Amino acid sequence: MALKNKLGITDSYELAREEERISKKKAIELFESGKLDSLEAGTFQSLKEIHRFLFEDIYDFAGELRTVNIAKGNFRFAPLMYLESALQNIEKMPQSTFDEIVEKYVEMNIAHPFREGNGRSTRIWLDLIFKKEIGMVVDWSKVDKNDYLLAMERSPVKDVEIKVLLKSALTDKINDREIYMKGIDNSYYYEGYSTFRTEDI
Ligand SMILES: Nc1ncnc2c1ncn2[C@@H]1O[C@H](COP(=O)(O)OP(=O)(O)OP(=O)(O)O)[C@@H](O)[C@H]1O
Ligand SMILES: [Mg+2]
Repeated sequence: MALKNKLGITDSYELAREEERISKKKAIELFESGKLDSLEAGTFQSLKEIHRFLFEDIYDFAGELRTVNIAKGNFRFAPLMYLESALQNIEKMPQSTFDEIVEKYVEMNIAHPFREGNGRSTRIWLDLIFKKEIGMVVDWSKVDKNDYLLAMERSPVKDVEIKVLLKSALTDKINDREIYMKGIDNSYYYEGYSTFRTEDI
């Protein structure tokens, strides 16, 4: 079953396709309008705004905290009960070095604040921190999708894999739109990696 959406789509494959099309269009607008650069890097507010902008035409929950517990694979993201305090703590994490920034990203992934679309919005959020703090971004075309997913699955336990992977893909082409867009071209929907409500497991 497809998530409830503003488009009235009930087929999950069709929703995935439309969601991808619309959110990519919005991502371009976010970049071209200068709105992305105007956000304060590393705050939860900036992640909210990114998520809201990408998904506002698709979901009522765009930019809103999730109201259910969710899991992917064997991993349960932050329980609702601790979500808000986790986000406050993550926001305070330092972000002046490459390692600090990845560590902050890993924690934000564990929080998984939204019902859907965490991967895409959080990768854009990550690149904004890299761009503003170290003058680099990730060239996601150099990041193999399977390696990325394995590294993210592993990251709550050990972050060395994701650090190595992202470090090898850094580029100083921080204003290149194609490189920016590659970060949201990383979707795994079609391979059945949907996020489950933990109540349904
Ligand atoms: N088992 C796991 N443990 C920890 N993190 C995971 C796991 N599986 C996936 N992830 C992370 O969750 C993200 C997917 O979350 P979500 O489905 O909310 O985002 P999305 O934007 O819809 O998807 P995608 O990142 O595939 O484009 C992945 O990009 C990855 O960073
Ligand atoms: Mg998803």
